[in-house]
Amino acid sequence: MASGSRRVPPALLLLLCAAAWSCAGGLEHDQPFRVPPGWQLAGAVSPGQELQLTFALRQRGLGRLARVVDAVSDPLSPQYGKFLSLEQLRALVQPSPGTLLAVGKWLRRHGVERCHSVATLDFLQCHMPASVAEQLLPGARFQRYVKGALSAIRSPLPYTVPEELAPHLDFVGGLHRFPAERREVARAWARQAGGQRRQGGTHPGSFHLGVTPAVLRQSYNLSAADVGQLPNNSQACAQFLEQYFHQADLAEFMRLFARGFAHRSRVDRVVGRQGAAGAGLEASLDVQYLMSSGANISTWVFSNPGRHESQEPFLAWLLLLTNLSSVPWVHSVSYGDDEDSLSRAYLRRVDAEMRKAAARGLSLLFASGDDGAGCRRLPGGNHTFRPSFPASSPYVTTVGGTSFKNPFLVTTEVSDYISGGGFSNVFTMPTYQAAAVRRFLRQAPKLPPSSYFNASGRAYPDLAALSDNYWVVTNRFPLPWVSGTSASTPVVAGIVALINDRRLQRGLPPLGFLNPALYRLQESGHGAALRDVTQGCHLSCLDGTVQGQGFCASPGWDPVTGWGTPNFPELLRALLPP
Ligand SMILES: *[C@@H]1O[C@H](CO)[C@@H](O)[C@H](O)[C@H]1NC(C)=O
Ligand SMILES: *[C@@H]1O[C@H](CO)[C@@H](O)[C@H](O)[C@H]1NC(C)=O
Ligand SMILES: *[C@@H]1O[C@H](CO)[C@@H](O)[C@H](O)[C@H]1NC(C)=O
Ligand SMILES: *[C@@H]1O[C@H](CO)[C@@H](O)[C@H](O)[C@H]1NC(C)=O
Ligand SMILES: *[C@@H]1O[C@H](CO)[C@@H](O)[C@H](O)[C@H]1NC(C)=O
Ligand SMILES: *[C@@H]1O[C@H](CO)[C@@H](O)[C@H](O)[C@H]1NC(C)=O
Repeated sequence: MASGSRRVPPALLLLLCAAAWSCAGGLEHDQPFRVPPGWQLAGAVSPGQELQLTFALRQRGLGRLARVVDAVSDPLSPQYGKFLSLEQLRALVQPSPGTLLAVGKWLRRHGVERCHSVATLDFLQCHMPASVAEQLLPGARFQRYVKGALSAIRSPLPYTVPEELAPHLDFVGGLHRFPAERREVARAWARQAGGQRRQGGTHPGSFHLGVTPAVLRQSYNLSAADVGQLPNNSQACAQFLEQYFHQADLAEFMRLFARGFAHRSRVDRVVGRQGAAGAGLEASLDVQYLMSSGANISTWVFSNPGRHESQEPFLAWLLLLTNLSSVPWVHSVSYGDDEDSLSRAYLRRVDAEMRKAAARGLSLLFASGDDGAGCRRLPGGNHTFRPSFPASSPYVTTVGGTSFKNPFLVTTEVSDYISGGGFSNVFTMPTYQAAAVRRFLRQAPKLPPSSYFNASGRAYPDLAALSDNYWVVTNRFPLPWVSGTSASTPVVAGIVALINDRRLQRGLPPLGFLNPALYRLQESGHGAALRDVTQGCHLSCLDGTVQGQGFCASPGWDPVTGWGTPNFPELLRALLPP
């Protein structure tokens, strides 16, 4: 996900394929192996080293699933809000008996017996020694990598599966992808250390108003009465890579900053294991702001379940989601990776998992990323923008970032130059956004050259919120200057959970996958529900052609701030029928 990482060159991959094994059973031959900065090879693992691999079994009914999602998420459809239970979802997507049989036989033949399935039967998580895994997946060679106190086991070489198994598997998790790191906070510190750097001038770093729950609630028009009231409504955030929150930090944050509105100061449920290590800034940020906008709503934190060195934490979260019949309706997730750093098989399968969540009525909100349009160097030497995933999945709601035009006042919001946004190179543009995006492309005063982005892809973000200069309490200390779309995402998630609360009070189903309703209401004259952000541009490639500038905000939807920022009373009015 970052430059400067080591990778196996594609030419070498081809060579390896040609040499020993056929690549016919290479499920992810396009998955680059990159050791992220900071990680170091610590040597081979012993043959007896215990691994935990995740087998993504080929699903069925994905076309039908897409039609179900369209119907249950479109406010004009008679099926709107008629979400599937986990059992109904299983009936739709579960692998064929042939697939279950073939994969089961293959694993047993290699003595792999310790496997756990999920409620939808489409994943198997298995434990085995490294020597068995290397026989099972020819090509794989497991090595240990370390970064500080963290340790991961991965295979720098591509794996294959027997040719007859290839039609039954999407991919095997736990071999190539490293846990993605969230870099927002590091950037916030760098910015603090290196002086305040922003487009359109500088401002003194010695004093700053800073974003607190009070500032957010004022900006998005939440009154003291706009808090959750139902004991059975809930919201969640997910944490990866050994990030933990502390109840004591949360309590201190609420004591310092949550004045004038009813709120909770405790997380109700942690799914997975909370480490005893010091609190992570990111984890503190998520929980503190989710519980400030989604105030007085029961909150869950998904943490890494018994984290294993060969686990992919994001994949582990997807397994939890598809294995629990009762989960919160709203999820805030600040995780992302470059789309081009992930295999097609993995991208499509994770997108299918998002679609499954949408069919169940879950609202998944993802941070749009903190690199603006991003930048990638193409083999010929030219540059192109670099979309981020899952931000680019058509089945999630992606949240971009804004900052105050005048940092000393709660006033007009402009684009935060770091706000991630752009167009997918993998997922085609969904119909719900086609009109809005085409209008942007037609009317934008100045677009980057068309070689920099794929105008036919899923465009993001969908909406935005403040992402600059948050106050967070971590390890008992209030810290300023925390920035990134990982801040805006829990804020929007909490607002969605508040609207769900009001809908549930009326006996209506929750909002589910938001985008079809969101785009429809903005198109149909409820424009005040999201306040349009029309100023500022985001970052991109530092080259002679685009000179560091990606897209710019403009009236209506744009790929920097989406439709804009929430205006709670209007959003509620639009999404809660009279
Ligand atoms: C899924 O849940 C079931 C029942 O709670 C459990 O037995 C199983 O181990 C879980 N699967 C995984 C992969 O954790
Ligand atoms: C809040 O709502 C009022 C009335 O709908 C509107 O005029 C105003 O622009 C909104 N925003 C703020 C920050 O007050
Ligand atoms: C907070 O939520 C609880 C239910 O979880 C409810 O009983 C209480 O009335 C709520 N507080 C306010 C001020 O609405
Ligand atoms: C939550 O509680 C309300 C009020 O008691 C009830 O009407 C509603 O059906 C419940 N919703 C769910 C999803 O359990
Ligand atoms: C790089 O971009 C230039 C200008 O758009 C174009 O003429 C050239 O063909 C591109 N080179 C490659 C290798 O794609
Ligand atoms: C552009 O996106 C479409 C999907 O919308 C994809 O099929 C196509 O390969 C992409 N083009 C490039 C050059 O990546």
